[in-house]
Amino acid sequence: MADSPKDLIKEKIDIVDFIGSYIPLTRTGKNWKALCPFHKEKTPSFMVSPERQTWRCFGCGASGDIFTFLMKYENLEFGEALKILAEKAGIELKKISPQEYKYVGLLYDLNDLAKKFFINQLENNKKAFNYLLSRGLKPETIAEFEIGYAPLSGDELSIYFINAGYTPEDLIRAGLVIRNEQGKIFDRFRGRIMFPIHNHLGKVVGFTGRILPELESEDVGKYVNSPETPIFKKSKILYGFWKSKNFIREKNSVFLVEGQMDFLASWQAGIKNTVASSGTALTESHLSALRKLTDNLIITFDNDPAGQEAGEKAIDMALNFDFNVKIVVFHNFKDPAEAVLANPQNLFDAIENALSAPEFYFEKYLKSQNKFSREYLKEIQAVLQKLLNIESPVERNFWIKKLSEKTSIDEKILIEEAQKLAQKTKISFPKGTENQNEVLPQKKFTRWELLSQEFISALLSLEKLQEDVEEKIYLEPLHQKIFDLLVKGIKKSEDPYLDEIIDLILLKVTSPESYDLEKIKKELKKEYIKEKRKEIVSKIKEAELKNDHNALEQALQELYQLLNQE
Ligand code: CTP
Ligand code: MN
Repeated sequence: MADSPKDLIKEKIDIVDFIGSYIPLTRTGKNWKALCPFHKEKTPSFMVSPERQTWRCFGCGASGDIFTFLMKYENLEFGEALKILAEKAGIELKKISPQEYKYVGLLYDLNDLAKKFFINQLENNKKAFNYLLSRGLKPETIAEFEIGYAPLSGDELSIYFINAGYTPEDLIRAGLVIRNEQGKIFDRFRGRIMFPIHNHLGKVVGFTGRILPELESEDVGKYVNSPETPIFKKSKILYGFWKSKNFIREKNSVFLVEGQMDFLASWQAGIKNTVASSGTALTESHLSALRKLTDNLIITFDNDPAGQEAGEKAIDMALNFDFNVKIVVFHNFKDPAEAVLANPQNLFDAIENALSAPEFYFEKYLKSQNKFSREYLKEIQAVLQKLLNIESPVERNFWIKKLSEKTSIDEKILIEEAQKLAQKTKISFPKGTENQNEVLPQKKFTRWELLSQEFISALLSLEKLQEDVEEKIYLEPLHQKIFDLLVKGIKKSEDPYLDEIIDLILLKVTSPESYDLEKIKKELKKEYIKEKRKEIVSKIKEAELKNDHNALEQALQELYQLLNQE
């Protein structure tokens, strides 16, 4: 069987190095362990096996290889992971898999070339460049974020790319070019400042283009985005994350803004733990990417009704993800970009004075002067409804206490009211998983199977796995088979079910002192006898039923032998 592109890549990248570059791994015997990045836990149950080049979390059940790890961790599709890992392995995807290359690789290449084209255009367009300067951006920032300009003519990019040998179809698929009803093609972005959108690994996957102010009109959108493509999913990408992720981790907090300009202004002012949702509604995917790095979210939204409404949704969603949410309010400015342009200190002050989400809701909803009015009751209910979004019961309780102090309403009554509201609205608390498959149902093994696995793992940890291990006969039959394979040094079978169990066993190989071999032996034997006895008893019953004296005799004999073993 010819090796698939995936296998070729896997041969070149060691899983321990690879996963170790994302999360700290510690050695445990032959394997490596870590806190699982895919679910919340306090003791490590995430294991990596160099022998099998696999990983598995014994807590949440997720498992796989370098591909699935990268896809889950960076929120990528398979094709994207393939392109990235091929590059890392020093393999040209074009050579090993022309089809995959055409599907995703080409999109990366086209976006990268387009980025260079736009940068080049900006260098030659004083007006565009001056506009960026007038918005307070420094040339270094413009260069660092690879900002460019799309010429107004409408066909310069098309001509440039087609001359370079690309087809109109490829350009359309990459979202750089559109075809009108007459069949004529032209550039999607015209007369716009071009902000490349980088994925979390720093590859350009699309663009946002802001029209030059002198071209602003009713007929054209102020901002135009690349369409969704296999490599560009708005719901997954956060603008600036490729640059800010280490700062977010370091500061253990993230500042979430709306637009590219807000991001760049904040970054330049020195608030580098920033990301922008770039105009789309915040999604669970966005939040789960951020939640891997920090549990402190500082959020700000435009000072208009639409911004406020979107903002409240974002706050509630973030509370569900168990973020500590703080809200930055600008009183005299529309957004962070404006505030920073006036004076960066405005941004520092606003962040300094950020309100925690419950405080924000207290301020926002508790307005009535008359504490005996119906309005006041409604306001309190509105606040309680918001407090229900807080994931942690302890924290929720803390804020109900605060609310009680603020309103002089008895805490117990508030709790009762909150419970009523929760029932009425059937609040369900969505968990922080973007995808239902993420938490796989754990395979159910019998106790005999589990003990068999533990016994083999223990033998391997102690380097005592040999053909003549006396207790081998106590293993569950399938596990005897696995035992035989492993004794021969075979770690991969042809049977996916066996393979899965081998994986489980090898991932539980750890330092010798973690296993009490004698105890496991005893338990295993006990379990074997229990299972055997069950089997023989049913044989006896069947023989009696059929009046089969020979079979009965034989079964009784077996039982006698078994009891002797005890
Ligand atoms: N946006 C978008 N499509 C639009 C409008 C906005 O994608 N039609 C996104 C852009 O990423 C933009 C962000 O939403 O950066 C914020 O939009 P908005 O607040 O309307 O932009 P302004 O802050 O007014 O833009 P500017 O400061 O450039 O005038
Ligand atoms: Mn704005």
